[in-house]
Amino acid sequence: MMEQQHLPGISERNQLYCGDCLSVLDIIPDAPIDLIYIDPPFYSQRVYEMIWGEDAAERFAFEDRWAGGINHYVNYHITRIKKMHAKLKDTGSFYIHLDWHISHYMKVELDKLFGYNNFQNEVVWRRHSGAHSDPKRFGIITDTLLFYSKGESKTFHPQYTPYTQEYIDYKYKSVEPGTRRRYWLNTATAAGPGKPKCFKGKLLTPPRGTHWRFSQENIDKLIKEGRIVFSNSGMPYVKYYLDELPGRPVQNLWDDIPMTKSGQERLGYPTQKPLALLERIINSSSNPGDLVMDAYCGCGTTLAAAQKLGRRWIGIDISQSAIRVVERRLRKLGAVSYEVHGLVKSLKDLKALNPFEFQNWAINTVYGQHSPRKVADMGIDGFTFMEHHPIQVKQTDHVGRPVIDAFAGVLQREKEKRGMVIAFGFTSGAIDEVARLEREDKIKIELVKCADLVAGTVPFKIMI
Ligand SMILES: C[S@@+](CC[C@H](N)C(=O)[O-])C[C@H]1O[C@@H](n2cnc3c(N)ncnc32)[C@H](O)[C@@H]1O
Repeated sequence: MMEQQHLPGISERNQLYCGDCLSVLDIIPDAPIDLIYIDPPFYSQRVYEMIWGEDAAERFAFEDRWAGGINHYVNYHITRIKKMHAKLKDTGSFYIHLDWHISHYMKVELDKLFGYNNFQNEVVWRRHSGAHSDPKRFGIITDTLLFYSKGESKTFHPQYTPYTQEYIDYKYKSVEPGTRRRYWLNTATAAGPGKPKCFKGKLLTPPRGTHWRFSQENIDKLIKEGRIVFSNSGMPYVKYYLDELPGRPVQNLWDDIPMTKSGQERLGYPTQKPLALLERIINSSSNPGDLVMDAYCGCGTTLAAAQKLGRRWIGIDISQSAIRVVERRLRKLGAVSYEVHGLVKSLKDLKALNPFEFQNWAINTVYGQHSPRKVADMGIDGFTFMEHHPIQVKQTDHVGRPVIDAFAGVLQREKEKRGMVIAFGFTSGAIDEVARLEREDKIKIELVKCADLVAGTVPFKIMI
């Protein structure tokens, strides 16, 4: 369990905390935060769903909690979100990123916490183009973001996207001779009867049941600017120029932000979200200089967007690897004024952890899934992220051949051809045995040294 004294209180500098946000949030004072975005592990992605506990009983309850149903998932996050709610300013906003499994269950609880009237939007983000077809049901290509304000007043800046050429060609087909400016003509009337008004010295009566929607003063101004044109029948219309409009207002369907692709901003972090998504949220719901928090920050997309847009930030993540990736990412973006807390920085820090913390650290660092008790008792401490291969963790300096042979036995029993052992070091006997197993038995065991994990030099492809 993360010791509170290792997590000093918030200062003017940006903050990065490694730990369960449940305990980290306790050291952040109430109500300094303008915007919170969180993207908790989805109900389907059990790999991250780690509960740090003071004792092993809590840890072993983990599997039951998650497998035990949606209520456990909801309670786990709502307990933490209640604390986040207290950290928001009265004018603050909260966004939670969810998927179809869980968003409706979470919404019920969030409405209770924030108040139904403070629910602002359900944003549907299309994260895939939908190229793959699902033969059994409609393909699932969207995530859901729920947006709440803490109180009645909040920061909100509408966002705009460029008009499509199709829309421009359809709506702004008129081109002004000379200036070549594109425009469309809108009526000068609105519903509800009204009085005649003067257009170019002529008193015009609005069509029945309508009124001129501009004051006389504004009509005179528009005429002076050449913005009122008359139809053949003498009806006035108002010119709206394309180049004066901010673009198409962003609505609650976001289908213009693709998932990050490898080779672009992609860092290899399994659940990384696109920077553009976070930029939109931060631009909409905060001002430069505001304080933005992500309490499940992953590889730090929110913090990177906040840094780019001149906001202050706080990031929290339970995973040591995540915080390392964030640090590198933020440093590349030029961030200098930040403090990092709770990170295992050396083998000495690691050796000081109790066995439970050490195992948590090791499994979290490779993004693994923790084992339920029944498997742990049989020599499997966790499973790798993608392929679900067994992992064994040893808090010892020299793992020797007997450990490797025993683990190979576990793999054979489980009908597995791959596995991973994490330890401080391995004897040459262990290394030779791993080579032999691969050569003769086609069993591949990755030997991962803690020093490499601490240094962050283990490639993602080995870890996951
Ligand atoms: C879906 S990922 C977030 C990805 C992030 N939005 C990004 O773009 O990189 C969820 C993150 O929550 C972290 N996490 C899970 N439980 C946590 C907890 N109790 N406290 C803090 N972080 C937690 C995981 O380690 C993981 O990095």
